[in-house]
Amino acid sequence: MNAPVNFDDLEVGYDVPALPGMDEADIQTPCLVLDLDALERNITKMGDFAKSMGVRHRVHGKMHKSVDVALLQERLGGSCGVCCQKVSEAEVFARGGLKDVLVSNQVRDLAKIDRLARLPKLGARTICCVDDVANVADLSAAAVKHGTEIECIVEIDCGAGRCGVTTTPAVVEIAQAIDAAEGLKFSGIQAYQGAMQHLDSYDDRKEKLDIAIAMVADAVAGLKAVGLDCDIVGGGGTGSYYFEGNSGVYNELQCGSYAFMDADYGRILDKEGNRIDQGEWENALFILTSVMSHAKADKAIVDAGLKAQSVDSGLPTVFGRDDAVEYLKCSDEHGVVADPDGVLKVNDKLKLVPGHCDPTCNVHDWYVGVRGGKVETLWPVSARGKAY
Ligand SMILES: Cc1ncc(COP(=O)(O)O)c(C=O)c1O
Repeated sequence: MNAPVNFDDLEVGYDVPALPGMDEADIQTPCLVLDLDALERNITKMGDFAKSMGVRHRVHGKMHKSVDVALLQERLGGSCGVCCQKVSEAEVFARGGLKDVLVSNQVRDLAKIDRLARLPKLGARTICCVDDVANVADLSAAAVKHGTEIECIVEIDCGAGRCGVTTTPAVVEIAQAIDAAEGLKFSGIQAYQGAMQHLDSYDDRKEKLDIAIAMVADAVAGLKAVGLDCDIVGGGGTGSYYFEGNSGVYNELQCGSYAFMDADYGRILDKEGNRIDQGEWENALFILTSVMSHAKADKAIVDAGLKAQSVDSGLPTVFGRDDAVEYLKCSDEHGVVADPDGVLKVNDKLKLVPGHCDPTCNVHDWYVGVRGGKVETLWPVSARGKAY
């Protein structure tokens, strides 16, 4: 899965949607296309921001599930490591050469804990979240069994309403249990406020994040009072990273979507009231799709339907056109595109900005990297389907 790709063995169409050197126009659709220039600019920009704030950026690999993209984020953006949500994703990143891997999630199943405890043997600093004292003994036993160290950070639910404890005494109790456990190291706090990231208004997002920052600051102080320092105070996403970055409390950002962008994130507004895909970030990820039927005068049917994307956060938008062409609905293998002026013809290609990048990437095998009208590279979606 992570072996270098030997393009000589791959056939366009059967194995891959394109090969390096091909014209962009010849890519087989539907498939994921990355605008490499835009991607590199996004990655560099976030890296520069983190540097200017004096915080680290641990990129969220759940978004792209790609070893190649994570390594690019390390090289161009100076990221300190990668986050992922599943042990299976962590295994892919560690085997792919990432040396610092945080499972920003709870690991409770004993078999998964055992796999987690083996990750340091691949040379990866291994970190996971804990929100229950009862988890500590299992993590410790597995680390001791394998002679490894698992770093643990206590997760605070600072508004997302999913995993995490909600009081400083609870944080301190779990942190002390971790600190006392053989094979474990207490390393800090996880506090990602996921429920506010997509609020349209900057001020609404700030209001929610101010609450989160106050909770986290209180927990850091509570830990300090019992002699526990936080190496990691992590959180932050594409809709909030400037708040955490400026907080003086968080020291690690975890942004994911900024690198690719999607239609759902694109519509949220920055401080000046501009959409964040109109200057702050560039669309770098597209679903390339072709018109396969225009039997109705006012509609084009394209080959990217439900199986080429996730529409949980809304339909894709059509990129780079100022006409009335609009993606209206989809079924499994069909996308219905309004074409009231009849400007499209069969085999025309459209670039769709996916509604939600993370689950869209998870239904493809490859990223086709393009630059200047040519296919420059192909990257596997290395952790595709790694949900366990
Ligand atoms: C724990 C955690 N951190 C960071 C992120 C990154 O978020 P985004 O894609 O909004 O930048 C996510 C995304 O869901 C997440 O679950």
